[in-house]
Amino acid sequence: MAASAEVSGVTMDKLVSLCKRRGFIFQSSEIYGGLSSAWDYGPLGVELKKRIQNFWWKEMTQLNDNIVGIDAAIMMHPKVWEASGHVENFTDPLVDCKKCKQRFRADQIPKENLEKHICPECGGELTDPRQFNLMFKTHMGPVENDASVIYLRPETAQGIYVNFKNVLQTSRLKIPFGIAQVGKAFRNEITTKNFIFRTCEFEQMEMQYFVYPPEDEKWFEFWKEKRFNYYKTLGVREKKLRFHQHGPNELAHYAKKAFDIEYEFPFGWKELEGIHNRTDYDLKRHMEFSGKDLTYLDDQSRERYIPYIIETSAGLTRTVLVVLSDAYDEEEVAGEKRVVLRFHPDLAPITAAVFPLVKKDGLAELAKNIEKDLRKHFTTFYDQGGAIGRRYRRQDEVGTPFCITVDYQTKEDNTVTLRFRDSMEQIRIPVKEIPARIKKESAEYRRKE
Ligand code: GAP
Repeated sequence: MAASAEVSGVTMDKLVSLCKRRGFIFQSSEIYGGLSSAWDYGPLGVELKKRIQNFWWKEMTQLNDNIVGIDAAIMMHPKVWEASGHVENFTDPLVDCKKCKQRFRADQIPKENLEKHICPECGGELTDPRQFNLMFKTHMGPVENDASVIYLRPETAQGIYVNFKNVLQTSRLKIPFGIAQVGKAFRNEITTKNFIFRTCEFEQMEMQYFVYPPEDEKWFEFWKEKRFNYYKTLGVREKKLRFHQHGPNELAHYAKKAFDIEYEFPFGWKELEGIHNRTDYDLKRHMEFSGKDLTYLDDQSRERYIPYIIETSAGLTRTVLVVLSDAYDEEEVAGEKRVVLRFHPDLAPITAAVFPLVKKDGLAELAKNIEKDLRKHFTTFYDQGGAIGRRYRRQDEVGTPFCITVDYQTKEDNTVTLRFRDSMEQIRIPVKEIPARIKKESAEYRRKE
């Protein structure tokens, strides 16, 4: 095994550059100069995002017999957003600079600037804070009037609440039970720096757990711990994770209690997921606004009540940034810098790359056949270009956990070299054992700190 030494860690510049160079994430509409805060997922990025989504979906729906999924429409009846409180309360306080015309979130500029009404950028005069609603408004149908106004959903949660009765009646679940959903959400965010961290269009993975009100604290604690541990199974280092409890001034309009799971990004500790006790706020409001009965009847006790909701709300696109930041590593190997993405094998966009040592003497054909067979089990990649060391480095940089090299010995005894990304260790194994070995290594994978 080659000697290695730690060099340095991740920065946003390095991450953004790698994501573009290797096809994870591109700026939206780049050929037109880009659209700020919008990003496109390239061939490797979309694989990574899908794997993260699948991991969450399995954790929520497949591994729990009392959680089911739905996929609600992004566009909903405008009354939904009146009932949810978003039309009235989903606002940020904004100030404008009269001189440079820049707009800032009043809660994100230094207090003394705000007190003295001085722009933090140019020293010009600031306006008083005004409430700005974060929902994107548009019109449905050919007439643009007040009656045709609709909103792009700012959270996926409401699609679950309005379907509470439908799911209850069709799935015959008993409380406690959950409904999970993954999908796009939209917010007209003013502060959108830091790559895909905060964007106007993003994806959420939300689960709403309906509980008997006296048991809300118990289930809140249950989900808080479960969600924290989940990130460890995703391969995220524990030392980079922590809780943050919302103080009274931070609580969203619907929440009685809220904890964030925070991750230490290259730009500091920030929210990754929120666990909220939303009480009966949402179902009660939808009952009022729709006139429909959204109560639950306990068929044992005959008690009828409005369930409380414990919500786990994670950003999918934000988790992509966590997984990328956490995986990024640089080390010095034999005097050269090695960049490696230490993804959990289950998340890596490519599981196994197959190389012939050289193209000639039938090795390329042999390697192609092995790669073709492995496609039934994993996402694979075939590469015959350049020195073998360079091919390994290219795969390290996109986080491929296993590389298989076909050489002259393969022709004789049907064995190959299996190389491990993290340790760079190489072993010799029979071709037929590759799938089982990779599955075993993936299942037992533990990232070294
Ligand atoms: N339904 C509750 C809800 O939406 P939130 O704390 O506003 O709660 C939940 O959002 C998660 O959605 C956040 O923890 C974050 O991961 C993600 N998120 C929120 N706004 C985002 C944005 N503008 N860009 C990317 N992700 C965002």
